[in-house]
Amino acid sequence: MTERIFVGPRMRKLANIVEAGLTRVEDTLAVELRVSDALADATTRYLYEAGGKRLRPMLTLLTSQLGGGVNDDVISGAAALEMTHLGSLYHDDVMDGADVRRGVPSAHAVWGNSVAILTGDLLFSRASQLMAQIGERAIRMQADTFERLVLGQMHETVGAQAGDDPVDFYIQVLADKTGSLIAAAAQAGVVFSGAPDEYEHAVLEFGEKVGVAFQLLDDVIDLSADPEETGKVPGTDLRAGVPTMPYLLLGRAADPASRELKATIDDGVARIADGADPAILDDALGRLRDHAATEATRRLAVEWSEQAIAALAPLPDGPVRDALTRFSRVVVDRSS
Ligand code: IPE
Ligand code: IPE
Ligand code: MG
Ligand code: MG
Repeated sequence: MTERIFVGPRMRKLANIVEAGLTRVEDTLAVELRVSDALADATTRYLYEAGGKRLRPMLTLLTSQLGGGVNDDVISGAAALEMTHLGSLYHDDVMDGADVRRGVPSAHAVWGNSVAILTGDLLFSRASQLMAQIGERAIRMQADTFERLVLGQMHETVGAQAGDDPVDFYIQVLADKTGSLIAAAAQAGVVFSGAPDEYEHAVLEFGEKVGVAFQLLDDVIDLSADPEETGKVPGTDLRAGVPTMPYLLLGRAADPASRELKATIDDGVARIADGADPAILDDALGRLRDHAATEATRRLAVEWSEQAIAALAPLPDGPVRDALTRFSRVVVDRSS
């Protein structure tokens, strides 16, 4: 992704700074994820070592260039937020019943639900410890962000209530469960580098909107996924009855073919919940992938990405703003 964000000689210097910062974040993670207990050490490192795009640290490093640049607090903050993300993946795969993550069997598939949940908890503890080294502001940022992420996951789990518009409700879930952490990553770079206060609100709004765009495109990828490329099983969420935007937009379509497809998916989800083979939905998910609702989801992702870019208006012109702009466009133009 870095090659697509940093292009041309004007961005070369910035790319080098971000690359060097990412190396420091990796080194910090390698140290901070060590646990004296042998099992906990293995489970904690497991998904970290399996890969990941490190988008959140990249954002922190980028926005730190709006202030005094990379310093120890910027690195610790970036690492702590990536650890929070990592912990949320352990929990998320339990909740979603997802058996593959980052191209490897998910933690609960290897060690069972309890160990996977406890590993997530351990990662959250470690993230808080790291934030505590920075200071009170950082701890508050971590706590507030995590609360919002958890409430987003909670609302997704409980689902829209009577009177909620399902599409609006879903967008709010995405902003809370994913936008919150991406926004915090962008905010951390501004705050910990001592950048001007007026940039903080702009990058928060940017991060949250990029998060929504990112998740909307994730829904598209979930349907078109080549498991080799995404490291996930296609249609995992839908098969487990977790609604995604293409499914919600399908529900708004009134023509008979769309209604029939929705009924087929609902029926398949109910049968899978009763123990049927998840493959019974292969055909229906292929049809949803080719339905206008999926293309509409892709367009919506692009709209959110463009709104994120609009939020950058208060930032000075230059390579940092250009890189953030490209970041937002790359997020909705990817296949994994
Ligand atoms: C996946 O995030 C979980 C979501 C919040 C959608 P990423 O796609 O950033 O995951 P990694 O870190 O690259 O594995
Ligand atoms: C993950 O959301 C969000 C958090 C971990 C907070 P999803 O469940 O939609 O993401 P993937 O598709 O499993 O990565
Ligand atoms: Mg999931
Ligand atoms: Mg989930």
